[in-house]
Amino acid sequence: MPSDRIRTLRDPGIRVAPSLLAADFGRVAEQLRQLETGGADLLHLDVMDGHFVPNISFGAPVIESLRSQTDLLFDTHLMITDPLVYAKLFVEAGSDLITFHIEVGCDPRQVIERIRNLGAAVGVSLNPGTPAEAVFDILDQVDMILVMSVWPGFGGQQFIRDVLPKIRAIRQRLAPHQRLEVDGGIGVRTAAAVAEAGADTLVAGSAILSGPDPSRAITDIRREAQRAEQWNRINHSNPSSY
Ligand code: DX5
Ligand code: ZN
Repeated sequence: MPSDRIRTLRDPGIRVAPSLLAADFGRVAEQLRQLETGGADLLHLDVMDGHFVPNISFGAPVIESLRSQTDLLFDTHLMITDPLVYAKLFVEAGSDLITFHIEVGCDPRQVIERIRNLGAAVGVSLNPGTPAEAVFDILDQVDMILVMSVWPGFGGQQFIRDVLPKIRAIRQRLAPHQRLEVDGGIGVRTAAAVAEAGADTLVAGSAILSGPDPSRAITDIRREAQRAEQWNRINHSNPSSY
C-alpha cells in the first residue's frame, strides 16, 4: 500500500527538495528541523557507491536513523551500479521514492518492477550526456524522471544549461501527474529556467544548506519556480494573449 506521503507526489505544483548531501552531518538533526520549518517538500538523499560515481556518501543505516526524525517524503537518489540488488535495503530504511540511473545497464523494467513491488514510488534518472530518448519507452511506468543538470557525484557544481531542451522534450511526453525533477546547480538564479522548461521538482543542496538562511533559500527557489510555472500555464492556456 502506498503511504500518504507517496500519494502527495501526484498532487500538482512545484516542490523544493533540499539535498542532504550539503548538510553538516555533525548537526544533521538540527539542519533537518531547519529544512522542515523552512518548507521543504521532499528530502533528497544522495546515495553514492564509489563505482557509478567517483564518490561515496552514505547508505541505508543513515537513512533509517533519519526516518525516525521527520515525516518528510524521502526522495532517495541511487547513484549506484546495482539498484536491483540494493533497492530493498533503501525501501526498508524508509525511502518513499527510489530513483535509479538509466545508465547502470540493468534492465530498467525489472528494476522498476522490483521497486514497485517493494511499495515505493519509482524514478529514473539521466546523466547530462544521456539523451531524452533513452527513457522514452519506460516513461509511462515511472512516477518521476530526474534530469541531472550536473555530472553526478558532487554537490556545488555549476548548472549545465544544455539540459534545458531535454527537460522540455521529456515534459511534453509525461502525464500531468508524473513528476519531472532536476538536480544539480539549482538555486534562485536557475530555478525559473528549469521550471519554465517543465521541471516541477527542484533539488538544491548547496544553495539551501551552504548559505546563511536555508528557509529563505527554499522560499526564494519556490517563488522563482512558481512564477515560471504560472507564466507557462497562462501562456499555454491562452497563447493568443502573447
Ligand atoms: C549530485 C547530487 C545532487 C547534489 C546537488 O551528484 O545528485 O543531489 O547534492 O547539489 P547542488 O545543489 O549543490 O548542486
Ligand atoms: Zn541527487
